[in-house]
Amino acid sequence: MKSIVAGLDVGTSKVCALIAETSGEAPALLGFGIAPCAGLRKGVVVNIEATVEAIRAALNEAQKSAGVRVGTVVVGVAGPHIRGLNSHGIVAVRGGEVNQRDVERVIDAAQAVAIPLDRQVLHVLPQQFAVDDQEGVRNPIGMAGVRLEACIHIVTAAQSYGQNLNKCCERAGATPTEIVFEPLAAAAATLFPEERELGVALVDIGAGTTDIIVFHGGAVMHTAVLPIGGGHLTGDVAAGLRTPLQEAERLKISYGVATNMVVGRDDMVQVPGVGGRAPRMIQRRLLGEIMGPRMEEIFAMVQREIGRSEVADNLASGIVLVGGSALLEGTQELAERIFNLPVRRGLPVNLNGMPEELIKPMYTTAAGLVLHAAAANGNGPGTMRNGRLLGRWRNRVSDWVREFF
Ligand SMILES: Nc1ncnc2c1ncn2[C@@H]1O[C@H](COP(=O)(O)OP(=O)(O)OP(=O)(O)O)[C@@H](O)[C@H]1O
Ligand SMILES: [Mg+2]
Repeated sequence: MKSIVAGLDVGTSKVCALIAETSGEAPALLGFGIAPCAGLRKGVVVNIEATVEAIRAALNEAQKSAGVRVGTVVVGVAGPHIRGLNSHGIVAVRGGEVNQRDVERVIDAAQAVAIPLDRQVLHVLPQQFAVDDQEGVRNPIGMAGVRLEACIHIVTAAQSYGQNLNKCCERAGATPTEIVFEPLAAAAATLFPEERELGVALVDIGAGTTDIIVFHGGAVMHTAVLPIGGGHLTGDVAAGLRTPLQEAERLKISYGVATNMVVGRDDMVQVPGVGGRAPRMIQRRLLGEIMGPRMEEIFAMVQREIGRSEVADNLASGIVLVGGSALLEGTQELAERIFNLPVRRGLPVNLNGMPEELIKPMYTTAAGLVLHAAAANGNGPGTMRNGRLLGRWRNRVSDWVREFF
């Protein structure tokens, strides 16, 4: 059956709305809209009015180019208020053989950790199960045993931030059916199954935040959000060269570098004059000297976070960089040196029908949100036909178990 789904990435620098048609398994893009957004700081809505306007503009453009209207969206969330934690639960198996109900109960038990009332659960992601003494079980349903254990990763968000985002979407004319942690969406759009299996860290360096998600053995092992991103680089260039932010942004995008390893000794660039003064020429290495330390700081923070996952030494597939700042020249080279792992740039390749202009690391999250919307639109009980926000997480867990294994 054909249906229309939409993903909405509300980022610190832009809102990106994608509309796709899904029939069965593979959704394909129908239309898109992008609008600059000044309503967020560090991934969090701080100006409702400006955010509503940007969402409305992006949605209108997407609806026009797709030739369809959408009433619901799957929206992404990030920001330093997000917390990821691992948990563990045990239950007795009732009928001697594990069934769906037992899996739900054990995940319920694992989820019974103290989650403060002002936080909402975004995702409950099973990592692995154990049946009696047999560990490392991915799908325990049908297995014989008396004791079922589950390891899960839980992602929670501050309730008020989620509510603000929700309000902005509603006021712009679209009801969020689900709020998805942004790097989880980005992972859906760019990672290959082998990478999740062998171990990989996806790092989304946007304008206001750097989001991290670590996979191993096919499961999410760690998540984190750092309140730092490309906006800091622009600020550094503006301060270092005493040039307005807009010029600094342009200079960064045209000539910026993450490391002087990739800059020739005599490369020169022109810096426009401010307040009627004449433009001046500077060595491009100066940009590297300004931006390099900031990029090193970001990667050092990322490395510390990855170190907190239990699989830091087992990331055979290395690092995948997404987000607009992954386009900065020399980023891959610097990351390879710091992490001492293979590094690649991630593009939204898992969504069909993306035009070339959208095959860029900053549109990975939006593409992943569409993939999430399409998955939720399947026939599972987690489908939110009535547009209820977030549904019951338990349904989504069983959906996830089905989808994943
Ligand atoms: N070619 C480029 N070189 C360096 N930086 C770039 C380039 N293109 C875009 N950027 C930077 O990427 C950032 C925007 O990336 P992105 O669209 O992924 O962020 P966002 O989703 O709006 O923000 P966030 O995810 O942090 O809320 C900006 O800081 C921009 O300056
Ligand atoms: Mg983003």
